Amino acid sequence: MTEPTRRKFINARVYRQHDRLSEILVEGGVIQQVGTGLPDAAEVVDLRGRLVVPPYVDPHLHLDYVFTGSGPGATNASGTLFEGIARWHDVKKTQTLESAKERALRGIREEVLKGVQFVRTHIDVTDPELTGLKAMLELREELADLVTIQIVAFPQEGMYAYPGGDELVEEALRMGADCVGAIPHFEWAREIGERSVHRTVELATKHDKLIDVHCDETDDPMSRFVELLNALVMTEGIGPRTAASHTCSLGSADDAYAFRMLGLFQRSGMNFISLPTENAYLQGRQDSYPKRRGLTRVKELWEAGVNVCFGQDSINDPWYPVGNGDLMNVLDNGIHLAQTMSFDELDRCLDLITYNGARTLMVEERYGLEAGKPASFLVLDADSPFEAVRQRADVLASVRDGDYLFKRPEPSYEVELDLRPRPR
Ligand code: FE2
Repeated sequence: MTEPTRRKFINARVYRQHDRLSEILVEGGVIQQVGTGLPDAAEVVDLRGRLVVPPYVDPHLHLDYVFTGSGPGATNASGTLFEGIARWHDVKKTQTLESAKERALRGIREEVLKGVQFVRTHIDVTDPELTGLKAMLELREELADLVTIQIVAFPQEGMYAYPGGDELVEEALRMGADCVGAIPHFEWAREIGERSVHRTVELATKHDKLIDVHCDETDDPMSRFVELLNALVMTEGIGPRTAASHTCSLGSADDAYAFRMLGLFQRSGMNFISLPTENAYLQGRQDSYPKRRGLTRVKELWEAGVNVCFGQDSINDPWYPVGNGDLMNVLDNGIHLAQTMSFDELDRCLDLITYNGARTLMVEERYGLEAGKPASFLVLDADSPFEAVRQRADVLASVRDGDYLFKRPEPSYEVELDLRPRPR
């Protein structure tokens, strides 16, 4: 039997204790200690004062849609959510298990290369063949050592607007999907949307699954399915196991209503997932000027202590053409749109693509930078959270369970810029 490799990372600035230099001792894929003056190791890695953060978490991505955006019949001329759904209805008929796996793998590769190690993906189950789901169930197992994937059984064309949609969701849960999904604002009437929210909670309790609902992805301030979802999961005591994705209409809601809801969200412990780049692009399409930003109330949720995180949503699909799995770019857009850029917020905002996503996915037991946790972390090309965000820092290395997923050379130039003033 070979001895497990012991590695010591020195001169690290560990996120949330980054005011000092620390050492991280790793053995057997686990963080043994974080501190100073730690025992020797066979391999010592000098991080030269760089910031170490836990892996990025993408809590909301559609891996069955990736790289279909520029294919035949996929062009979304209006740029709206609803035309995107109509385009996908046609595009999905052409996918096979092999093509779905091949595209999803490319999408995962883009994300992992940018520091993501945890992905929650919504997979469309309004397909009697469940082709995308079968592809993703295989990939989830085949890639488990490299990236943690959670699957949402997502009825893109409706639990009820699509005949038998609710039964397909249940079938997907039986096949191994992790979460129940829904899209109440797409059902044909408010009452039917409400029925889909009730059914979501019933299915989650019946099958012991998590919940992640595409909820109120519209500028219509009367779209208030989040209120019902929150109330039902609070009654069942499963708020922390539930996520409301998008909730764009809350950004257009009356203040009195929104602030009453904030109190109820605090009580339920429900999680919120905002998708800044997609919703800035898709929403406000019926506005002339001023145009709405399309985001939910990220700043107010965050300030109220409600768990909120950011996700990518789309990588070149009929809804949004230019997603690339770069959570730093998503964070950059999100903090601008949400106006969360005080120095204090800048110091903490990496939470929105790390710890807060991990809490939403309920993977906190194996996530973080403390002794006893799996040695999974990123080395960023920056020496503080503020500089990481200001410089939109690159990921220099991604470590998972003690081993490198990848490691890049430090940036360098073939010709160095020489900016010494010259006499003229
Ligand atoms: Fe989505």
